[in-house]
Amino acid sequence: MPFRNTPDRFGFLARLFHWLIFLLLIGSFTLAWTMHDLPLSLLKLQMYSWHKWVGATVFLVVILRLGWRLTNPVPAAPAGTPGWQRLAAGLSHFLLYAILIVMPLTGWIMSSMKNLPLVYLGVIPIPSPFGKNEQWAEILEEVHETLGLLLLILIGVHVLAALYHHVILRDNVLRRMLPWPARLKSPGTET
Ligand code: HEM
Ligand code: HEM
Repeated sequence: MPFRNTPDRFGFLARLFHWLIFLLLIGSFTLAWTMHDLPLSLLKLQMYSWHKWVGATVFLVVILRLGWRLTNPVPAAPAGTPGWQRLAAGLSHFLLYAILIVMPLTGWIMSSMKNLPLVYLGVIPIPSPFGKNEQWAEILEEVHETLGLLLLILIGVHVLAALYHHVILRDNVLRRMLPWPARLKSPGTET
């Protein structure tokens, strides 16, 4: 299983990053939706902290992932993919990366503005340079929640596109991103 990307498949590290972020996001959304409705308790406060740690980890991983992407060839779209689909894939991947960077930043700054700053893993304080500001915290909270919704919609479209490739077009697009080393179909057998 190649470590780096090759012209026809994502390598081990690119796939590790992809599925690690997938798992982290499941954790982040599950915590976000649960913590909000809990009555004030130690568990609620802990869940807020866990949510912040998981989100900060998403940020770290996505920065590493982008660095790796920019220094690796990205597998090409299957031959014959229409231009608009290439454009849609490029745009949606760009937006996914952008939201995965901006969401943790808004969460981090918002938390500091609420005077509940991020202490990563309970050990490393990461104060924001913006200080306390309730009014701006409210605005950033709205932005954070709206981006969360947008992220979910984009992931939904992304998964449908992956299934469209796999089930309807029967090409290698999903296979080459699976977390395990799936055997690829040779070109020309996609029927
Ligand atoms: C990609 C990473 C992240 C995702 C997907 C995410 C997602 C969410 C979502 C969906 C909510 C809304 C919950 C609701 O509907 O009430 C939320 C709330 C929140 N997030 Fe994040 N978040 C991320 C990163 C962070 C980070 C890094 C921090 C702080 C360091 C943070 C701090 C918060 C706080 C404090 C709230 C609660 C706002 C409130 O109700 O007072 N988030 N997050
Ligand atoms: C948390 C949810 C997910 C996020 C944030 C996400 C994000 C991304 C991003 C940013 C890329 C572009 C990779 C690059 O070119 O650098 C990508 C590729 C891909 N993802 Fe996801 N993904 C998620 C979940 C899934 C799921 C559940 C599936 C499968 C059902 C999937 C299937 C794929 C496939 C097949 C590709 C390769 C597309 C290509 O070859 O151009 N993803 N994903």
